[in-house]
Amino acid sequence: MRKVLFLKSSILGGYSQSSHLVDYAVEQWKKSHPNDVITVRDLAVDNLPFLDGELVGMLAPAEGTVLTDRQKSVQATSDALIAQLKDQDVLVLGVAIYNFNISTHLKNYIDLICRAGQTFRYTESGPIGLSGVKEALVLKANGGIYGETHSSIAYLKQVLGFIGIEEINFISAEGMGYGDEVKTKSIADAKAAIDAYLSK
Ligand SMILES: Cc1cc2nc3c(=O)[nH]c(=O)nc-3n(C[C@H](O)[C@H](O)[C@H](O)COP(=O)(O)O)c2cc1C
Repeated sequence: MRKVLFLKSSILGGYSQSSHLVDYAVEQWKKSHPNDVITVRDLAVDNLPFLDGELVGMLAPAEGTVLTDRQKSVQATSDALIAQLKDQDVLVLGVAIYNFNISTHLKNYIDLICRAGQTFRYTESGPIGLSGVKEALVLKANGGIYGETHSSIAYLKQVLGFIGIEEINFISAEGMGYGDEVKTKSIADAKAAIDAYLSK
């Protein structure tokens, strides 16, 4: 039995291709791994707070620091997100590309879960990830066709590696803006790749 957290992050609701892939993966996951415990959340509707000049002070306050009520409240939200993440074996991210990057909502989640002493710590030989999550699967959709060297992939590898996730798999539905034929084939290929991933 493994615990698996699926995070959607598209702003396009029912039109979202990455959320469509997440829904498909959840459905197939339940069929192929019926004992796994699955949690799904949608960061685009979660209404999580964004970091600002006040809230940054709640990330890793020095001992004895007195937090404002707002800092305390957001720290509790961040604590809960981190507790949920650290309880998982696998993280599955639905990733939408907007203006060449991940969505604001996913970046915001990352800003809330990257906390020194909790999901990473620095040592004399560099950072160590503390999330305890073993594996990530990224289900990405983008209008263009960028391949595996896209900056969004490099970024996600870096930040997920930073919190200690060593095995990271990417499945991309590319060319969502290239017309129906390309789009249909790309989604079908992504679903086949999900099936192959789940049959490993
Ligand atoms: C505001 C906005 C910006 C976008 N910018 C890009 C972009 O920079 N590169 C790209 O390949 N596609 C871009 N697209 C297309 C999306 O990547 C495409 O619609 C993809 O399906 C988004 O994932 P989603 O359907 O899960 O939301 C953009 C779409 C929107 C709505």
